Formats: sequence, structure tokens, C-alpha cells
Amino acid sequence: MVPAAVLQTRLTLSEGEGRRCSRPGGPEERNPMDDDALLAEQLAYYRAGAAQYDRPYAEREELRELLAAVDGLPVAGDVLELACGTGQWTPRLAARARSVTAVDAAAEVLDLARARTASASRAVRFVQADLFAWRPPRRYDTVFFAFWLSHVPPARLPGFWDTVAAALAPGGKAIFVDDGPAAAEEEVLADQPAPAALRRLDDGSRYRIVKVFHDARTLTDDLTARGWSVRIRTVAGNYIGIAEPPTADSG
Ligand SMILES: C[S@@+](CC[C@H](N)C(=O)[O-])C[C@H]1O[C@@H](n2cnc3c(N)ncnc32)[C@H](O)[C@@H]1O
Repeated sequence: MVPAAVLQTRLTLSEGEGRRCSRPGGPEERNPMDDDALLAEQLAYYRAGAAQYDRPYAEREELRELLAAVDGLPVAGDVLELACGTGQWTPRLAARARSVTAVDAAAEVLDLARARTASASRAVRFVQADLFAWRPPRRYDTVFFAFWLSHVPPARLPGFWDTVAAALAPGGKAIFVDDGPAAAEEEVLADQPAPAALRRLDDGSRYRIVKVFHDARTLTDDLTARGWSVRIRTVAGNYIGIAEPPTADSG
């Protein structure tokens, strides 16, 4: 999600500062290990900023509309939520699910999510884990992730989609929500190991994060090429995707 502060103070980057990393050899050719420090800084940002994370949800009408859209999505059965953050989406998932398991690496956001879901209609099981290392111990009917895909470096996307596929039971669906290119108001950083932006917290501290603004068409084509069935629609500058992984008899 693009924080309100970033939207309000949109920076104009001069030509050449670039909206994307300009290293030679496309992202898929890079060693994914190059981005370890960037991913650690991204996590540090969410840990340090946990207390201010919810502000855009209070301030931005389109985020509330997006949250409400969950009620029309095919969330069902046992649900796995990846990068659950402060649990903005978790109670809505719990209202539609048989069970919810919510994973995030930051203890600080998980504490807020636990408090937010204390009275949810279903008990939520929280797991603190690094999604780039964690492997699902079982399968789920729905794997949901909001504002996470844009934080996955392109070189790690194939592995991420494989993890999602491995987490889905037969007939299960991945459902994802994120910023589209129309929401690309960020302080974009050049020459990073993955597309990246600079985020600032209230105390003035600054952190690099991964930020990939997927457009619906390219994301659809990429997933289709990997054998997934996918539908993506745009909603107020964001996108909502519903995808099913390849089955053994589809290839
Ligand atoms: C943009 S927030 C999304 C939170 C929530 N899904 C939402 O939409 O409000 C990204 C989340 O990813 C989590 N995160 C960052 N790095 C992670 C990692 N390596 N493994 C698991 N979670 C991570 C952060 O703690 C943060 O809660």
C-alpha cells in the first residue's frame, strides 16, 4: 500500500533517476541473494512503523472500498493469509472462512493483528515467519495476500508462486490485492537489486522497500505462462486477482 504521507508529498523524479532499477540483465537474471539486505530493510520498516501502519486505512476512502470488496470474493474454507500485517483484512476473511492462519514476519504487527481479531467470528492462528523461507505445512482452500505481491522482488516471484501453489488444496484459489501502476506515487530509488522505493516514518527514519507496480495485463500474462488460470480486475488504482494453479493434468 502507498502510505498517505507518500501520496501527499509526491516527489517529482528527474529523468534518469528512473522509476525502475536500471541494472543490466533483467531482474530474472539477478542472484536473488543480492536482495537480502533490501528485504531485511523492508521488514525493519514494517516493524518500526507498526504503530502508524493503519493510518491510510482510516484516511483513504478507496482502501475502505477495497476492504469491503472482500465480501464479494470467493474466500472459503481454510484460509491462509500471507503478510497479514496489522490484520486489516483478517477479520473479514475470518467471517467467510472455516479457519484462518495468518503469517507475517513482524512481531509488532502481529500483536496489533491479534488485538484486532480478538472478537473475530473464527479463531485466527497467527504464525511469525519469513515468507521467503517459510513453507506451508498443509494445504488451504484459499491463499490471500494484500499489498504483499508488490514487495516480492521479481527474481523471487517464481519461487513465491510455487509456494502459493504448494499451499493450495485441489480446487483452491489464490486471491490477491495490491497497488497497480496508477498508484505509483513513491520515492522510487534507482540502482537497487530490485525495484525499490524509499519510505519514511514519523520519526524521520528512512527505509528502502521493494515496490513492484504490476499491471494487470502483464501479471495475467506471466501467471498464464506459468500455467495458472487468472482473472485480475482493477479497482480504484488497485487490482484484485483470483488465480488457480496449474493442475497435474493441465500441463
Ligand atoms: C504492505 S504490508 C501488508 C499488510 C497487510 N496485508 C495489509 O494489506 O494491510 C506488508 C507486510 O509484509 C510483512 N513482511 C515484510 N517482510 C516480510 C517477510 N519477509 N515475511 C513475512 N512478512 C513480511 C510486513 O511485516 C508487513 O506487515
